[in-house]
Amino acid sequence: MMKKIYVVGMVILAMAIALTGCGGEKKAEKPAEVKKVLKVGLNPDFAPFEFVDKDGKITGFDVDLIQAIGKQMGMEVNIQNMSFDGLVPALKTGNLDVAISGMTITEERKKSISFSDPYYQSGLVVLVNKDNSSITGINDLKGKKIAAQIGSTGSMAAHKVEGAKVTDLNNTPETYLELKKGSVDGVVNDLPAVQYFLKTDEGKNFKIVGNVLEAENLGIGINPSNKELVTNINKALAELKKNGEYDKLYEKWFGSKPVSK
Ligand code: ARG
Repeated sequence: MMKKIYVVGMVILAMAIALTGCGGEKKAEKPAEVKKVLKVGLNPDFAPFEFVDKDGKITGFDVDLIQAIGKQMGMEVNIQNMSFDGLVPALKTGNLDVAISGMTITEERKKSISFSDPYYQSGLVVLVNKDNSSITGINDLKGKKIAAQIGSTGSMAAHKVEGAKVTDLNNTPETYLELKKGSVDGVVNDLPAVQYFLKTDEGKNFKIVGNVLEAENLGIGINPSNKELVTNINKALAELKKNGEYDKLYEKWFGSKPVSK
């Protein structure tokens, strides 16, 4: 008799365990893996580095590069469309983690933000209307009218030209428009962006004159209080240069293999 009760008891116990077991099997819902977000700012008027394509999507070499870097770091990349001269202030206040926007590493900017290692070699050039034969280089712009993007190194170079009247505009395409209208004599901008523009239909009206004014290194601007991010971005960038991913992206956007990186 006792044995029977004992057996029945065991069976009930086993069933109870099985039941709770069942409940336990309903997998405890894992919190969806929350990826850390990398807040990225850029000014998409600088093809092929960053621009808005015909479908309204922000694309370009910088966009692909920062996506690849984010992936390396296990971070989700969140891109914000901003004015170029708003990028450095937004990094300073921490509204942005990084800015990748064809930005030149300059001593002046280094006083207020951090930079990654260089990721592209650029330089400044002068652009004029195709039918202009009097301006053959930056020196011929003395006392003349120049347009450049506000806050850019092109603008800084233009302001150094003796007696020149500089019009600082928000976007690069506006500078080309002023040139076309004849309201300025020249535009100063980065060589790779100008080269890309010259190949478009709109670009057919213009030409580059003179030599490359200044060699410049482009870098990723970084929130100055986040030193760890500088290290991690440089690590990711080095890895992408090593594993061929950087070369792939470079070829995709510039049509040739990088000479140096
Ligand atoms: N390299 C130049 C600079 O750093 C121009 C960059 C302009 N970039 C842009 N996305 N509009 O000042």
